[in-house]
Amino acid sequence: MEKLVIEGGVPLRGTIQVSGSKNAALPILFSSILLDHPVTFHNVPRLRDINTTNAMLKVLGRQASFCDDGGNSVRVAPGPLNPEAPYDLVKTMRASVLVLGPLLARLGRARVALPGGCAIGARPVEQHTKALEKMGAELTLDSGYIHGRCKRLRGADITFDFPTVGGTEHLIMAAVLAEGQTVLRNCAREPEVADLANFLRAMGADIKGHGGDEITINGVNGLAGGEYAIMPDRIEAGTFLAATAITGGECDIAGCPIGELTAAIAKMGEMGVTLEPHENGVLVRRSGPLRGADMMTRPYPGFPTDMQAQIMAMMTLADGSSTVEETIFENRFMHVPELMRMGADIRLSGSRAVIRGVRELAGAPVMASDLRASASLVIAGLAARGQTHVQRIYHLDRGYEHIEHKLEKVGARIRRERDD
Ligand code: EPU
Repeated sequence: MEKLVIEGGVPLRGTIQVSGSKNAALPILFSSILLDHPVTFHNVPRLRDINTTNAMLKVLGRQASFCDDGGNSVRVAPGPLNPEAPYDLVKTMRASVLVLGPLLARLGRARVALPGGCAIGARPVEQHTKALEKMGAELTLDSGYIHGRCKRLRGADITFDFPTVGGTEHLIMAAVLAEGQTVLRNCAREPEVADLANFLRAMGADIKGHGGDEITINGVNGLAGGEYAIMPDRIEAGTFLAATAITGGECDIAGCPIGELTAAIAKMGEMGVTLEPHENGVLVRRSGPLRGADMMTRPYPGFPTDMQAQIMAMMTLADGSSTVEETIFENRFMHVPELMRMGADIRLSGSRAVIRGVRELAGAPVMASDLRASASLVIAGLAARGQTHVQRIYHLDRGYEHIEHKLEKVGARIRRERDD
C-alpha cells in the first residue's frame, strides 16, 4: 500500500490543469457497448476507475485501452458482445451496474453482478431496475446476479422517485436503441448526465431535454462511431480551489468549468475566497481570513455532495462556526474523525456537522476511507503544521489523476511513499 506524506504550511502558487471528468467518462465509456463502430474518447483521466472500466469493457467483448501515445485518449473497438459482468469487477466499481441496460438493449439478455453498498452508504439501484422493468425487461436476482431478459426494450414513461445520477444515465443508455419514445421525469440535472447525452447525440441518438429534469429519447436503429472529448472534472477543479484557498495561496485553475461549479464557487466566495473567472478557467486567491458558512448538499445545481468533505476541511480553519448538512448519502462523514485527529473541532449529529474554526491544524497520520474524504485529508494536510501521512490512498487514485504531481508543481511539499 502507499501513502502521501505532506509537509503543510506552504501557500500554493502557480497553474493547475484540470483533467477530464471521471464521473462523465465512466458512463460514456460504458455506453460504447451500444455502438457497432470504433470510437475514440479524448480527455479521459488516467485513473484506476478508468482502468476498471476498460477491463469490464474487455470482458464484455470490446477492445478498450488508452492509446499508445501516453496521452488521454481511449479507443474502443467493437467485437462480439458477452452478456455477463462478473462480480470481481462490479465489486471494485459500483458504476459497472450501468452495463445492464446497454447489454439488454443490444443482446436482449444480461447477467450483471448486483453491486453491494460502499463506505458512503447502502447505495441501492432499485430506481434503475424498476425503470428497466417498465421498458419491458424481466429482471430476477439469483446468486448475487441480476438476470435480465427482453425481446426489445420499448419506450416508456418513467418518473424517478428522486433525481438519481446513475439511474438517469442508465435509462438514457437503455432508451437510445429502444422501440419508440421514452420520457424520463424527475431526472438528475448533473452536467455529467448532459455530457453522456451529448456524446450519444453526436453518435446519432435522438435525445432532448438533457440538463433539465425531463428528458425525451426517441429510439433509433443504430449509432455511428467517431470521436468525443470528455468534459473537464468539476469536482477535481473544486478540490484545487479548496486546496489553494486553505493555504492562502494564489493559483490559476486552468480548464475549471466555472459554469458547472457555481454553488461551490458561491460558497467559497461567502467564506472569503476571491475567485476571478477568465476565458479558460479561474484565478483563485485568499488574502483575508476564511469565514464560517452554512452549507447543505443538494442535487445539481445545488452544492455537490462530492465537494462536501473538501469544503469542510476549509471550515475547520474558518473564523466562527459552520454547519454542513449531508442530504445525498447517509454515511458521508468519515473524514470527520480523521480531521479531528488533526485538531479540528467538529460535532456530528446524524446528517449534520457543526464545525468550530480552530487557529491551526496539526499534522498527523490519518486514514483515507473514500475518494472525497481522502481529498479532504490532503487539503487539511496542506494547511496543517508539521507532517501529515494520508494512508490508504488507493481511494484517491480512483478519482484524482497525478494529484501529488499537480500539487507539487504549485509548491506543495508532498510525496508518495510505500506504507508497509
Ligand atoms: N439511490 C437509491 N436508489 C437508487 C439510486 C440511488 O437509493 O436506485 C440513492 C443512493 O444510495 C444515494 C443517492 O440516491 O444515496 C444518490 O445516488 P445517485 O444515483 O444520484 O448517485 P450515483 O449515480 O450512485 C454519482 C456519482 C457519485 C456522486 C453522486 C451524486 C458516479 C460514478 N458517481 O453516484 O460520485 O456522489 O452521483 O452526485 O458518477 C464520487 O465521485 O466520489 C462519487 C461518489
